Amino acid sequence: MNILGLETSCDETAAAVVRDGHEVLSNIVYTQIAHHRPYGGVVPEIASRQHVEHLPEVIAEAMAQAGVGWSNLDAIAVTHGPGLASSLLVGLAAAKGLALRLNIPLIGINHLEAHIYSAFIGPDRIDPQALGPFLALIVSGGHTSFVKVEAIGRYRLIGRTVDDAAGEAFDKGANLLKLGYPGGPAIDKAARAGNPALVSFPRGFVHRLPGRITGLEPKYCVSFSGLKTALLYHLRQHPLSPEPAAEVADLAASYQEAIVDTLIQRAARATDDAKILAVVGGVSLNHRLREKLAIMADKRRARLILAAPKYCTDNAAMVAGLAAHKFADHAPRSQIMTLDVDPNLGLGEG
Ligand code: KG4
Ligand code: ZN
Repeated sequence: MNILGLETSCDETAAAVVRDGHEVLSNIVYTQIAHHRPYGGVVPEIASRQHVEHLPEVIAEAMAQAGVGWSNLDAIAVTHGPGLASSLLVGLAAAKGLALRLNIPLIGINHLEAHIYSAFIGPDRIDPQALGPFLALIVSGGHTSFVKVEAIGRYRLIGRTVDDAAGEAFDKGANLLKLGYPGGPAIDKAARAGNPALVSFPRGFVHRLPGRITGLEPKYCVSFSGLKTALLYHLRQHPLSPEPAAEVADLAASYQEAIVDTLIQRAARATDDAKILAVVGGVSLNHRLREKLAIMADKRRARLILAAPKYCTDNAAMVAGLAAHKFADHAPRSQIMTLDVDPNLGLGEG
């Protein structure tokens, strides 16, 4: 079964063809980073315009590389939430047009569910059907969530950040340290030459949840908004010198350590409850996080599953791959006429 997947939920314009849910025939990602960099973050208006401009060529390239031909596609899959409404709409409109023209089913995909599935594609993949229940940690620019996965398609959110996502914390910290955008890779790089113990930034453990958050376990919740404020205050008290490279390296390493330590402590609890932990999303590319996760899992004899680096940040292979598991539900009743975007779509909601 060949599925063409489209992903336009944020600032990556992506298309991929995946066979039978795991064999990635093509995976094209046009990253808009250069267009958002001058603003220090994603500008929704620019993102949607970039999707409109680039999606046709990205799709054409994905089809050419896959070499399967339009008539050999069995379905079109598209991310319909969560994400930026104006960006999601571009992918959805293209997907509907293609599905109508080719007369094949349209399958709407939840971006968070696709991130979880990113751990199960490519040549070295593990078969999620044979795995049994596990816990997933999604760490990206927009999300930091612990999810109990009973099976593909059956999820329960058990914890999340009560404010900023881990990726957001990296991006805001890098901005304060004038390391540029996106902040995660910049801090990761600068931190390599730094001392992670130089400044003890606050760890974002949450002990009691605010009243507006219900149904989650505090032991799986985190908070990162105090961290950037702590860095801001630190910089006010200790302004950077004119030649700040060494200071910035130490601060980047210390700041990164606070995020990583927080996630590791929570992940360690997760491995007490479930012996399998999958970690996915852009922040899971972080070298320090990967290193400490491996040590933690080893010590606890837990199984750690990491998405391959090229599937950590937003891509369409995870969308097209997951869609194979939804095909049976949607083939008889395509979503062409009914599917809409849902910027706040939660896990297990569609
Ligand atoms: O998964 P993703 O592409 O987008 C969302 O769905 O949000 O993740 C992007 C996030 C950004 O915040 C970026 O700074 C972060 O992932 N990131 C990293 C690293 N590479 C990307 N954070 C820490 N260390 C990295 N090496
Ligand atoms: Zn994402």
